[in-house]
Amino acid sequence: MTRKIGVIGVGHVGSTAAHYIVANGFADDLVLIDKNEEKLHADVLDFQDALSNLPFHTNIIENDYSALADADVIISAVGNIKLQDTPKVDRFVELPFTRDAVSEVAQKIKESGFHGVIIAITNPVDVITSLYQKITGLPKNQVIGTGTLLDSARMKRVVAEKFDVDPRSVSGYNLGEHGNSQFTAWSTVKVMDQPMTKLAKENNLDLDELDHDSKYGGWLVFHGKKYTSYGVATAAVRLANTVLSDAHTELPVSNFREEYGVYLSYPAIVGRQGIIKQCQLDLTDEELDKLQNSANFIKEKYQESLDALK
Ligand SMILES: NC(=O)c1ccc[n+]([C@@H]2O[C@H](COP(=O)([O-])OP(=O)(O)OC[C@H]3O[C@@H](n4cnc5c(N)ncnc54)[C@H](O)[C@@H]3O)[C@@H](O)[C@H]2O)c1
Repeated sequence: MTRKIGVIGVGHVGSTAAHYIVANGFADDLVLIDKNEEKLHADVLDFQDALSNLPFHTNIIENDYSALADADVIISAVGNIKLQDTPKVDRFVELPFTRDAVSEVAQKIKESGFHGVIIAITNPVDVITSLYQKITGLPKNQVIGTGTLLDSARMKRVVAEKFDVDPRSVSGYNLGEHGNSQFTAWSTVKVMDQPMTKLAKENNLDLDELDHDSKYGGWLVFHGKKYTSYGVATAAVRLANTVLSDAHTELPVSNFREEYGVYLSYPAIVGRQGIIKQCQLDLTDEELDKLQNSANFIKEKYQESLDALK
């Protein structure tokens, strides 16, 4: 069976994701779409120049929405990252641009007849994921945001450094908004099979400080190079592969939770149809309050976006 992935928005993040896919042979067909036709054409040629030295072949299709009709997955990395370069540490500064860009792109995806899974990276990702679902009309389980899959990886980096272990030796989640209202749910975090809450006491670690470092970890990267790319592209491609291989993997992604009435990050089982099953965590009362707060914030911003698009 042919594996077909579309990447829309081939800037810093989209091109990094595309390179990861091409270099590892994760797709047979890769559809690349961007408004900046000259830059996109240069990237397509550059990828084609890589093919003769790679162990895999990828068919690359350029700026053709109709080619998405039978794609399995679309990754959205549409955006304008320069807008984030302000003293504000707030992903919502990009929303007036991405709201309009995504409503145009989502309409074209719908017209293409696409019926696979959308993976949104575009920020602010929880609101944008909701817009993709609403405009394409795809079932909610088929529209996912990378959400706190990246923030959970940042938390794992921060915690792993404290214990001198591989980040993959840390389990647990950052939940809620991929933004300032997210939080590390410490009741879910384990290292060396020990609860982090216990280890923090024994090792005199300040959990609020670690939460802060993982939440704002992306801004450290951003301030150094004015964009972030490898962490998020790796998360998005992992999700795409999880869908393609129908892996049924538990991942913290932005998915629609009925009880909150909004897209937010909470672990779910991901497979061929997108969200296969939703998980249920045993969170503390304090964590539940933080999650509700994050949900309220996303809901308010989503409603504002819908009003602006009217
Ligand atoms: N969710 C996350 O964890 C996460 C992490 C990093 C970046 N992001 C977001 O991903 C997006 C992309 O980031 P970037 O650094 O690659 O930005 P970028 O500005 O380098 O690239 C964005 C690309 O989108 C294209 N584009 C814009 N409007 C378009 C449209 N209507 N149709 C087709 N293409 C269009 C642009 O031409 C550009 O090539 C941004 O919204 C950014 O905030 C999210």
